[in-house]
Amino acid sequence: MGKKIISPGGNVTGVVELPGDKSISHRYAIIAALAEGGSEILNYATAADCKSTLECLRRLGIEIDATRERVRIGGVGLDGLKAPKRALDAENSGSTMRMLAGVLAGQRFASTITGDASLRKRPMRRVAEPLRQMGADIRSRDGDLAPLEIRGGKLHATDYSAAVPSAQVKSAILLAGLFADGSTVVREKVKTRDHTELALREFGAAIETSGDSIRIHPRPKLEARQLIVPGDLSGGIFLACAALILPDSSLMLHNVGLNPTRAKVLDFLISIGAQINLASVQLRDGELIGDLSVRFSPLFGGVISGGQVAEMIDELPMLAALGPYTEKGIEIHDAQELRVKESDRIATLAAGLRLMGADVEEFPDGMRVAGRNSGKLRGAKIDPQGDHRIAMALSVAALGAEGDTVIRDAECVGVSFPEFFKTLERLRGANVDEG
Ligand code: S3P
Repeated sequence: MGKKIISPGGNVTGVVELPGDKSISHRYAIIAALAEGGSEILNYATAADCKSTLECLRRLGIEIDATRERVRIGGVGLDGLKAPKRALDAENSGSTMRMLAGVLAGQRFASTITGDASLRKRPMRRVAEPLRQMGADIRSRDGDLAPLEIRGGKLHATDYSAAVPSAQVKSAILLAGLFADGSTVVREKVKTRDHTELALREFGAAIETSGDSIRIHPRPKLEARQLIVPGDLSGGIFLACAALILPDSSLMLHNVGLNPTRAKVLDFLISIGAQINLASVQLRDGELIGDLSVRFSPLFGGVISGGQVAEMIDELPMLAALGPYTEKGIEIHDAQELRVKESDRIATLAAGLRLMGADVEEFPDGMRVAGRNSGKLRGAKIDPQGDHRIAMALSVAALGAEGDTVIRDAECVGVSFPEFFKTLERLRGANVDEG
């Protein structure tokens, strides 16, 4: 694909059926592999990250038959994984590496898991340390980085209080807890996405949540299931924000995941003036789903800090890039985690938005992006540093700018939302060209 040229203007109008949620797809695949018998997952994410999870599972001896419509996974039970002949490759996917680390910690064989250049720079001590406390032998590069060499074995139950709010780390410990010698507890000060808890319950695990703690009992018999993955709200939010900033837009997103641990971004957008309505909200396979309608709206702007950060972690790039389309701008604090995502998202966003003429102040833990009084954005040449969410956030910002924007290496959007540019094109006519 190379670069994408985004011409501004038009509106975003129509109906979209989003591809499956990335976070939920990883979990369904991993847990289905540990269940007994064949599971079928419908609307599995098209995200490259979720393909990485399937590839790793295949290397662990899991039979997987994937078509566009569904993924069939031949579960082998808790003790059926095979020692991989080569290193597992999580590519760009932090979720794959961290969650599989939890599973590999409980195996009787040794394995290595690695990733691409971006993932090999991201912190892994946060997941290695609690798994070591449970008894796994894990070696990492420079004490913190992948590749991870994991010698699994008998695991002890643990009672772990999360230092950094992270659903990936929580999930790794809960998955390791399946193999432990007693019940494992994870405590979190800020509630992070709870898809692992919900999915484990769907597959029959004994898991209890009360207050800030989650307890998992070991060695359940996980049963194969047929499950439908909700549409990916974190991908849909880019389209929703395009509709919010382009006059006359009216967008409908169908069957979107509305899990309360993921949907705080909608509360925030509504609180700054977005016209967003929910309909047909229902529970399916333990997850809340519904239809979302979004209309062009004048936005006030606002501040995001504290616990809100973990609740909207993947949406922060898009919210920051909305700043120039709001009256008062967007300010983000307490978000140092953004610096260790697929890129240093604070630096990458600040650089891109400044090139587009935005007034940006960068903090160690966030940024302030001035509102519309500081001038209209202009088209620019953007390098998203291979980071899918930066490429999509700045593409949306480009829709209201003056002049064309060029997004380099735009294929990186495939990490979470391969259909992003095509869907945007369809919703607004042919104003996005492939370069
Ligand atoms: C994810 C959790 C978040 C998020 C990532 C997906 C998950 O990461 O940023 O895109 O599926 O559990 P952390 O848990 O590391 O914050």
